[in-house]
Amino acid sequence: MERVLIILKPDAVQRGLVGPILTRLEQRGLKLQGLKLMQVDEALARRHYAEHEGKGFFAALVGYITSAPVVVAVVSGKAGTVELVRTMVGVTNPAKAAPGTIRGDFGLEIGRNLIHASDSPASGERETAIFFQPAELISAWNRASDPWIYE
Ligand code: RTP
Ligand code: MG
Repeated sequence: MERVLIILKPDAVQRGLVGPILTRLEQRGLKLQGLKLMQVDEALARRHYAEHEGKGFFAALVGYITSAPVVVAVVSGKAGTVELVRTMVGVTNPAKAAPGTIRGDFGLEIGRNLIHASDSPASGERETAIFFQPAELISAWNRASDPWIYE
């Protein structure tokens, strides 16, 4: 199994797109392990986006992600789920994201790109651990639809 940390960024929450975006992930067959509304503080933002420290957009990125509440989720699926979710999300700049992707259907600018998704299985584990306490996650639960989603 692979886990992906999803952040519905402040613009997604402010624009009332939490439901439509989560619906896409649910409808695809991904399984929720955790879900909450929260405010990201500067320390958490810097930790999450540590790989971008020193880049020109870093301050704006931290400002953006801390500007208003976000919804964070952990979704899981079989091997390949990280790549599958990244494909659903679309490329970083919504102006260049393909129609049918989340960024390509809902966004216009790179600094308002609505959603974060982990970019590797290792990132999925690292990011899950910084946003969720173990007790906040249900890592293995029986979903009635599982045999109708996975052969
Ligand atoms: P994310 O981490 O948020 O899922 O996005 P990503 O992998 O598609 O893109 P990444 O390269 O990791 O960049 C992280 C976030 O920084 C903002 N960004 N702004 N102005 C710029 O050139 C620029 N580049 C990146 C975006 O919010 C991007 O999602
Ligand atoms: Mg990234």
